[in-house]
Amino acid sequence: MAVISNCTASIIKDAALALKQGYLVAFPTETVYGLGADATNEKAVARIYEVKGRPTDHPLIVHISSMQLLDKWACEIPEYAIKLARAFWPGPMTLVLKRTELAKDFITGGQDTVAIRVPSNTLANQLLREFESLGGNGIAAPSANRFGKVSPTCAEDVMDELSEYLVAKDLILDGGSSIVGVESTIIACTKSDPLILRPGGITASMINNVLDLSIEVETKLARIQIKASGLLESHYSPNARVYLSGTPKTGDGFIALSNFPTPEGAIRLTSPASNQEYARTLYQGLRLADSKKLSNVFVVPPVGDDIAVAICDRLAKSAFMK
Ligand code: TXA
Ligand code: MG
Repeated sequence: MAVISNCTASIIKDAALALKQGYLVAFPTETVYGLGADATNEKAVARIYEVKGRPTDHPLIVHISSMQLLDKWACEIPEYAIKLARAFWPGPMTLVLKRTELAKDFITGGQDTVAIRVPSNTLANQLLREFESLGGNGIAAPSANRFGKVSPTCAEDVMDELSEYLVAKDLILDGGSSIVGVESTIIACTKSDPLILRPGGITASMINNVLDLSIEVETKLARIQIKASGLLESHYSPNARVYLSGTPKTGDGFIALSNFPTPEGAIRLTSPASNQEYARTLYQGLRLADSKKLSNVFVVPPVGDDIAVAICDRLAKSAFMK
């Protein structure tokens, strides 16, 4: 497998062709890097599950270049979903909609819905357009990490996670660091009102503004209660144990906004100045803990109803006891 950093138009054509031939192409998006396959090719999609080590009943997100292609994959689309698509695509938002015939069980995990996203990253969009010009309908792409692990936000992370599982003709496209840094907001659009299934860069208040609604922002407390109930699997997890309270000892990692001083003896892993930067650097910080072989990471979660909600969601999951 090759990692390509100078992604010229002809490289993007080659990558689209590789996808068409059933190979996997990891590519940057504004949220995190995705591991792409032709969403209509059952064998290629099966390789995604193999390479990630992911259970096959976990459905995938289908990426398309524009909302004009939505009707291929989804039907009975509610008016509010169209409004959301117009407002936030291309961008870090995934809509779960009733599926068409094109969305087979091997994409949806057997559900009658399909998850669709139009990413804004330029390279992702160029790849989708090339792929569609070759007759492709969409690229299935989960985050390009092993199942349960931290999502990759740069090409080196994808290499570290997956290179041993990829074959010679698979590709990794290097488009620099992801600018949002946490996965897309997933919104179920199958009922009379939208429901946020996973918080992300498109926040509840942004959705409320567009739809003139008042969807509740999930509280950190509610998430921690879910966690305590033991229902959640360990997810978004580095090898180090993540603690959301308590004080680090000498040699433990520490992640907090820059206005929190580093406790004596602790190793600062990231020091973001804002919640946006927190999202952008969190996964790098968790990976750094592993490359430094730290046993424990103490995190001061950010506060707020912006992207802090998504950060707290991922932190609560990564802190789940293994
Ligand atoms: O930002 C992102 O969304 C990234 C980039 C690469 O686009 N992708 C991503 O994919 O995070 P993945 O597979 O790591 O997470 C997708 C989530 C899974 O939790 C899956 O269960 C959920 O989307 N999902 C997919 N299809 C669904 C459906 N039909 N109904 C409900 N949830 C669905
Ligand atoms: Mg993932």
